[in-house]
Amino acid sequence: MYTVPLPRIGTWAAWRDAARAMLAARVPPEEIVWDWDGTAMELFATEIPPPTTKQSIRVPADFVEMAQWVIWHKDPQRFARLYGMLWRLRLDKGVMADRADPELARLRQMEKAVHRCKHKMRAFVRFRDLRSNGPRRSFAAWFEPTHHSVEPCAPFFARRFADMDWMIVTPDVTAKFADGNLTFDAGREKPDLPYDAAEALWGTYFKNIFNPARLKVSAMTSEMPKKYWKNLPEAQYIPDLIAGAEARVRAMAEALPTLEPARVARIHAQLQENPQPASWNILTAGLSGCTRCPLHGPATQVVPGAGPHDAPLMIVGEQPGDQEDRAGMPFVGPAGQLFDTLAQQAGLDRKAAYVTNAVKHFKFKEGAKRRLHVNPNASEISHCKFWLETERTLLKPRLTLALGATATGALTGNAKDISKRRGTIEDTTHGPVLITLHPSALLRMPDAARPAAEAAMIADLTLAVETLANLIAPVDASVRRA
Ligand code: URA
Repeated sequence: MYTVPLPRIGTWAAWRDAARAMLAARVPPEEIVWDWDGTAMELFATEIPPPTTKQSIRVPADFVEMAQWVIWHKDPQRFARLYGMLWRLRLDKGVMADRADPELARLRQMEKAVHRCKHKMRAFVRFRDLRSNGPRRSFAAWFEPTHHSVEPCAPFFARRFADMDWMIVTPDVTAKFADGNLTFDAGREKPDLPYDAAEALWGTYFKNIFNPARLKVSAMTSEMPKKYWKNLPEAQYIPDLIAGAEARVRAMAEALPTLEPARVARIHAQLQENPQPASWNILTAGLSGCTRCPLHGPATQVVPGAGPHDAPLMIVGEQPGDQEDRAGMPFVGPAGQLFDTLAQQAGLDRKAAYVTNAVKHFKFKEGAKRRLHVNPNASEISHCKFWLETERTLLKPRLTLALGATATGALTGNAKDISKRRGTIEDTTHGPVLITLHPSALLRMPDAARPAAEAAMIADLTLAVETLANLIAPVDASVRRA
């Protein structure tokens, strides 16, 4: 019998190396006690036996992919279960494809549970500003994950909040990010974190995007399980929002106009006669009553472009997402936040740009827990092109940044193969269009592929900043000469 000690921090690498060595020494699963963080008694030898074979051990990639997540599950049997599967894979490589295999099914369930825990952690960690006087801003958060998800999740926070120092304290492990270095330390008790005024703002935002007409309590509590509420500042408002929802929906229905407002009706009549809106006001009013395609029906509201009307840069995405649909503003959700992080690294100020979408209503299908994004089709994109063309005509941007294939297609007339076209500038009748990736595509990528894609996008955004500087500088110089 052998006892294999495994550390609480760096568990995955330690288990992987030990499992390889045990396999090479042909030690069967029943002869190993996996001792995680000194929780088992060291009754047996901790020396790893020498290999009995020189043959290299080949482990299927899908097992490694699964094991990397299962290892963070809270089940104390996880190490033994994984090694048991590894032991079987020696003789039968087909196990990983056998959906009826009960042990594989259990491991897949555990993998899913850790992924779910990872998503919850990404969504529900709330940082508080420690008001540091140093050169970098400093934040701390308290979080209670269901599984041991701090270590696998920390690289996500390091990428997302690369420009600040932060610490996520959990009872299990503490992750620290200081001056660009990520380290892990023992878990701690809940720290006494200072009050953060931003939480009140966040609460106001939360109350504002709460749509009583869309309230589904079971979906809401499944998306935001109650066990997380005690550490979520916005959760304090939920009981009142739920209690008042019915009355608010009734009030909204009573306040609904029975006829189209006269001004919007007049503008729509004008648009029939003279289809190209000649001002931003007409554009906004026209958009608010747009029924050019069926997407206006299920969406909460139209999401018009936002930003200065004399911006030199126009940024075009695909279509609003769930959060944009509720807020009525483009790029306020996860894709927008990732874009802002990358833009900041490229020196691009999003607030100085006019930001819009190729399609102005959210297209979705109802999922079990939330509304799921559906790609707009060619007809919807082409109906909405009317508004995009109007925005381009009114704004006259020096440069337009196309995020992803839909925006590229709507802006250049060609949506093909943007992987080959990204980082290049194409001429159009409305001026140059720089093509880059859509931030949502980066969010969907496997973690391993993300850094390269983020670097590519930062390079494209840097090119946008430089191109704009070159396009604007000669004009400024000639103005100065005149
Ligand atoms: N994705 C987009 O393309 N646009 C948004 O506004 C949000 C997400």
